Amino acid sequence: MRVLLAGATGYIGQAVLRELIAQDHEVVALVRPGRRLSLALSDRKSNETPDELSDAVTVVEAEITSDEDWTSPLPNADVVVSCLASRSGAPADARLVEYEANCRLLAYSERAAVQHFVLLSAICVQMPRLAFQREKLKFEALLAESSVPATIIRATAFFRSLVGQVERVRAGKPFLLFSSGNTTACKPISDRDLARFMVSKLASPPVSTVVLPIGGPGPALTPQDQGRLLCETLDQPFRTTSLPPEMFDWIRWLISPLALVSQRMRDRMEFLRIAKFYATESMLCWDADAGRYDTEATPEFGDDTLQTFYAGLASGEIALPERGEHSLF
Ligand SMILES: NC(=O)c1ccc[n+]([C@@H]2O[C@H](COP(=O)([O-])OP(=O)(O)OC[C@H]3O[C@@H](n4cnc5c(N)ncnc54)[C@H](OP(=O)(O)O)[C@@H]3O)[C@@H](O)[C@H]2O)c1
Repeated sequence: MRVLLAGATGYIGQAVLRELIAQDHEVVALVRPGRRLSLALSDRKSNETPDELSDAVTVVEAEITSDEDWTSPLPNADVVVSCLASRSGAPADARLVEYEANCRLLAYSERAAVQHFVLLSAICVQMPRLAFQREKLKFEALLAESSVPATIIRATAFFRSLVGQVERVRAGKPFLLFSSGNTTACKPISDRDLARFMVSKLASPPVSTVVLPIGGPGPALTPQDQGRLLCETLDQPFRTTSLPPEMFDWIRWLISPLALVSQRMRDRMEFLRIAKFYATESMLCWDADAGRYDTEATPEFGDDTLQTFYAGLASGEIALPERGEHSLF
């Protein structure tokens, strides 16, 4: 199957690329001009990806958000996979990438009679309070109306999002929690398992658009659980410092006058909203009738556990993954 992969340079995009190659698919990787595509495992120090596999990949450099003829160098694809995501989460960038770039991919898919469009989305869109979530939902709605069969994969927290405190715990500092650290939970998923899940869906386009929430192997872990696990793995005593999630509202209030005149400050305000959201919401399926997150209803997939991942970090077998430009911890 020939797969057009957008976002192939991202954390999940790279894992999807490796999985597509491992499954003998032909890949057309769409990357921004000048961006280097890496087949090396981003976080594993051993070289599990042989070089010759790169023969299966055609790299097409194009600026999907601005080049009018970005599709001209593309061969026809059977399936389109989008792992595009705004790197900053700022409202204008979210609109440009989460919505407009994906719209362009969809327009191409309709013209080229693509058999299946697979979209990487996020479970947090079920509580759309943030600009990037609204842009994602807008595109999901468009996809649902399109003639192209589509699978929308709403993933829970990635392992990468849960490594921000490795260095401070290794240095003997307490693990930072919001409130008690027991009010939220997630079923973390590795990049490899998520990629396997996504690629496993390619060959079976649904009759109409399906939305698949997905987490890693259970049980659901609270921040307390994650902290305990990390401290145990790094052989440190489990000590915590609790922070109030309202601190993000206080900072927002403080900088709000500057946001009236500065785009940078308005973006900073959105980043603080994002931080508060992740400090207070679970990355699990929401049960609207019961008004609570439902651990049992959140599907699980894969074998990679956070415990094994932390152990790999502790032993040095796994390198700390690069984190987003606005990562908090
Ligand atoms: N973090 C979590 O725990 C989590 C959990 C569930 C779901 N998600 C969702 O998963 C998705 C992907 O996450 P990720 O960590 O793999 O993202 P990522 O590492 O930030 O990668 C983003 C990809 O989009 C591309 N991109 C960004 N801006 C672009 C632009 N203006 N034009 C063209 N391409 C652009 C990037 O290309 P460049 O390399 O050229 O920048 C990169 O390939 C997001 O939708 C996120 O909401 C995240």
